[in-house]
Amino acid sequence: MRIILVGPPGAGKGTQAQVLQQTFNIPHISTGDLLRQAVREETALGKQARSYMDKGELVPDELVTAMVAERLQRPDCASGFLLDGFPRTIAQAEALAVELARSGKELDGVISIMVPRADLIERLSGRRVCRECGAMYHERFDPPKKAGICDRCQGTLYQRSDDNAETVSARLSVYERATAPLLSYYRDRALLYEIDGSGTPEEVSQRITATLKSV
Ligand code: AP5
Ligand code: MG
Repeated sequence: MRIILVGPPGAGKGTQAQVLQQTFNIPHISTGDLLRQAVREETALGKQARSYMDKGELVPDELVTAMVAERLQRPDCASGFLLDGFPRTIAQAEALAVELARSGKELDGVISIMVPRADLIERLSGRRVCRECGAMYHERFDPPKKAGICDRCQGTLYQRSDDNAETVSARLSVYERATAPLLSYYRDRALLYEIDGSGTPEEVSQRITATLKSV
């Protein structure tokens, strides 16, 4: 399966990807996670990406598409992949189409996760992530057993630096301006599946899985 997850910040792309990668046995490729790793490791890409991410802006297309092209060539992507947060612009979608055509592969579907804006803000403001294993929590909706500590690995939980109110607002505007046009792009290609992202994570997973199994 070759799947794309599209949705505004906080829609639950990462949460759903963790389930889907197991259900369909495909690697989860999150450009946000790859970029945050590059920033942490202070690579050349990380140094360039940092200022854009801190402001909630998109990292330039050419940097992100090169990073994804390299990732898709690894052997674990031979029988499929789950892209989370890429493509995010029409230019990125076109670069991906060229890359897939070159290797004779096609997308199976693009899942758009739809959540009302007020819920997005609530989800992002309470998100906590484990510094060690990347597990995700929410202060109210999915709290760890012990505040600030990961249930799985006892690592420390932190709040992403772009989850403050000002940057969240910038990220939501960027989504509307640059990423939402992708929905018509994929609808025109009969690849788009729009999923109601409200309710519990389990309810959303069931909707997505049922849709993908029928594709
Ligand atoms: P990225 O990391 O992709 O961030 P994002 O798109 O803003 O999305 P998030 O990761 O914030 O949200 P999510 O949808 O994954 O939600 P989650 O599952 O965590 O990108 C970060 C930055 O990197 C960008 O701003 C940009 O600068 C750069 N970048 C990345 N890709 C790029 C690209 N292609 N091009 C250019 N730049 C790029 O859930 C959120 C919270 O809600 C969690 O606490 C979770 O527990 C909770 N939650 C989830 N589902 C539910 C539910 N059903 N009910 C209640 N709570 C829920
Ligand atoms: Mg995410």
